[in-house]
Amino acid sequence: MNRRQYYITTPIYYPSDKLHIGHAYCTVAADVMARYKRLQGYDVMFLTGTDEHGQKIEQKAREAKVSPQQFVDKVVTGKGGVLDLWELMNISNDRFIRTTDDYHVESVQKIFRKLHQQGDIYKGKYVGKYCTDCEAFWTETQLQDGKCPDCGRAVKDAEEEAYFFRLSKYQNRLEKLYEENPTFLEPASRRNEMINNFLKPGLEDLCVSRTSFSWGIMVDFDPKHVVYVWVDALTNYITALGYLNGKYEDFHAFWPANVHFVGKEIVRFHALIWPALLMALDLPLPEKVFGHGWLLLDGGKMSKSKGNVVDPYLLAKRYGVDALRYFLLREFPFGTDGNFSNEALISRINVDLANDLGNLVSRTIAMVDKYFGGQLPAEQAEDAAADRELTELGRALRDAYEKQMEAFAFQNALVEVFQVIGRANKYIDETAPWVLAKDEANHPRLARVLYNLLESIRVCAVLLKPFMPKTAEEIFLEIGAAPGNTTWEAAAEWGLLPHNVIIVKGPSLFPRIDAEQELAALSELAPASGAAEDTHVEEISFDTFEKVEMTVCKVLACERVKKSDKLLKFTLDDGTDKPRQILSGIAKYYTPEELVGKTVVACTNLAPRKMMGQQSCGMLLSAEQGESLTLLLLDDAIPAGAKLC
Ligand code: MSP
Repeated sequence: MNRRQYYITTPIYYPSDKLHIGHAYCTVAADVMARYKRLQGYDVMFLTGTDEHGQKIEQKAREAKVSPQQFVDKVVTGKGGVLDLWELMNISNDRFIRTTDDYHVESVQKIFRKLHQQGDIYKGKYVGKYCTDCEAFWTETQLQDGKCPDCGRAVKDAEEEAYFFRLSKYQNRLEKLYEENPTFLEPASRRNEMINNFLKPGLEDLCVSRTSFSWGIMVDFDPKHVVYVWVDALTNYITALGYLNGKYEDFHAFWPANVHFVGKEIVRFHALIWPALLMALDLPLPEKVFGHGWLLLDGGKMSKSKGNVVDPYLLAKRYGVDALRYFLLREFPFGTDGNFSNEALISRINVDLANDLGNLVSRTIAMVDKYFGGQLPAEQAEDAAADRELTELGRALRDAYEKQMEAFAFQNALVEVFQVIGRANKYIDETAPWVLAKDEANHPRLARVLYNLLESIRVCAVLLKPFMPKTAEEIFLEIGAAPGNTTWEAAAEWGLLPHNVIIVKGPSLFPRIDAEQELAALSELAPASGAAEDTHVEEISFDTFEKVEMTVCKVLACERVKKSDKLLKFTLDDGTDKPRQILSGIAKYYTPEELVGKTVVACTNLAPRKMMGQQSCGMLLSAEQGESLTLLLLDDAIPAGAKLC
């Protein structure tokens, strides 16, 4: 096999907050890709890291009364920090870059100087709008309703002496890139967005330095400026290989990258600014930028304030890292948004992992053990007609899987594997080994049936290895597959296990979860410690505030939710014809009876969510102080349906 290089990157993360499962999504996907390419025999460079400069970090450090460096050190290397999270998620990155690393700082300064010397960066005056949260400058025309087009937050007027990158100079070359290379940016929807929203209106030069704060890489020839955080961050993809520094020497081996995985909101930086910077540096462009979707919670973007359901430590502890990795890539296509819910996670574990995969392995192993004492006899009887479908599917699986993986269609690749798993389970029912076992004369046939099952499991486990590395290894051990039979090449072959293979019984791979009990247990858990730590109050605009609909409601009925100590279920008259159901976690403070007939306030345009299997359409307002909680009760003279203003 040709040994070739494959270079894959994730975005580098802001260590301004604790990372949640949404952040892990992209890194797990990149890890799967890296492991898949290694399996294929590529020499892989998988890079991830942290983006540690900028005003936001400076602000957070000030609030925490520590230096910015101390602040980022804690979030990156401290307990439960970024490095710990990647270890937990079994991320196999080859390199980890921190933008505060000396070698990166050295390269960025050299890059800035070089671009300045050649005239691609020039000094001017910045007048425009700045979004502190996104660290992004915008022109009036780019704003949406006067707000940051990325996050929708308010922007500030900004005017200062600044350096500019001649982004506009690269307009034609970028247009040509998009014309000639339609797969440079995928999925196609993101490509259209770049063309219509940015290229067509025309690119403007980009402000690439700041003087109003100092936590950044200093422009060494004009020290009151620091380099714009996105220029600092994007260049990580080349500085981490040793570009313009002496730390590493892999630039020529690995650049250009095969793919940059990035979330959809940062595609603009990677698919316009980054290629333009590379053009200016006269460097080849990455082969592809893939803009994946978001993992949503209750239809909205995740944030730690939404509690511990999104805490990867908690999820991994309860369900295992491999189950979590599997869920993230199986539940929805990589290019689109998808909703995270405990119900969906538990159902995937029960249906796919416990029922389909787990059962196939445990039944097969148990039968080899029971009927042949753990070792198959070499004398086996084929039944070409009965075996054909399974063996043909098994033989074709690797190519079908490869096609999907090459298109970053992780979900489809898993569907392919689970089709074979499903077929193998059906094969058990069709061949009825327990019937064959009754008659000694049928034992050669029985041995062949079990052998075919072991082979199906082997091929599937090789291809599941990038997704669920630990599980695959456990399976190899159980089915007695030697390392030579677990390679990429071996996945396309049928009949590699020795006929007289010896199996090793192991513990259940994915014990079935009692969904109801588990959901009850989850809803009883206290909010994540991370959420409690966040004392920073975010300001919202009047427009955002106005969007919240507060409605006066009458309590028509109220009862306890079964198996929950916390929840009461309310049926409310909200002034419309239809009663509204809301669940509220106030069972510790009120009995249902005392609330019937009362007049309460509910937020009525909150996205509906399910709790304990029941729909809750809104939220009742209460006042909380320490341990005490009081439901807001209004004067009964106020009619149902009245709006708070
Ligand atoms: N520091 C920049 C990236 C610089 S790359 C040169 C940044 N950091 S971030 O920490 O805010 O986000 C990192 C990545 O996490 C982004 O690609 C973002 O889309 C992704 N995600 C954050 N929350 C997410 C979900 N809920 N779901 C999926 N991805 C999410 O942007």
